[in-house]
Amino acid sequence: MLGEKIEKAFNAQLNAEGWSAYLYLSMSAWFSSQNLPGLANWMRVQAREEMVHAMKFFDYIQSRGGRVNLTEVAAPSFEWKTPLDAFENVLAHERKVTGLIHALVDLAAAEKDHAASSFLRWFVDEQVEEEESAEAAVCKLKLAGDAPGGLFLLDREMAERVFTPPAGSKDA
Ligand code: FEO
Repeated sequence: MLGEKIEKAFNAQLNAEGWSAYLYLSMSAWFSSQNLPGLANWMRVQAREEMVHAMKFFDYIQSRGGRVNLTEVAAPSFEWKTPLDAFENVLAHERKVTGLIHALVDLAAAEKDHAASSFLRWFVDEQVEEEESAEAAVCKLKLAGDAPGGLFLLDREMAERVFTPPAGSKDA
């Protein structure tokens, strides 16, 4: 059985992951409006990954006998100044999510919920990858900013990203 504090915190994280999907979908739409379909594709794939993250919490809460409590998802931003501005927003957001996951790890330890601690390990590792890919995109955009045609080439590269559901995911 899931303790009350963990149940509440996991529901909050379910909401935060859903909001992340919303944010990246909004960015995808913005990149489309800027005629950058590759960057729009990257964000669309990212949004699907966030829904997988959300569904992991959705399933886990229920597998432990908890109650999923879906709450309002706030509207994300609608405009960014430049592609670099958007990806700097991604990086800042992922760093914030890492902090949220680490706070959950601390809570699970404090509650002596070893099963929850084990569940969260996947997210700790995932956040390392999330920050790494956002940092890589920020670096590439900074380089592209000074090179003629750089953004065009980067957009072509980002078009190749495909959604790969994690092993064991029900949401393939
Ligand atoms: Fe669900 Fe991008 O962290």
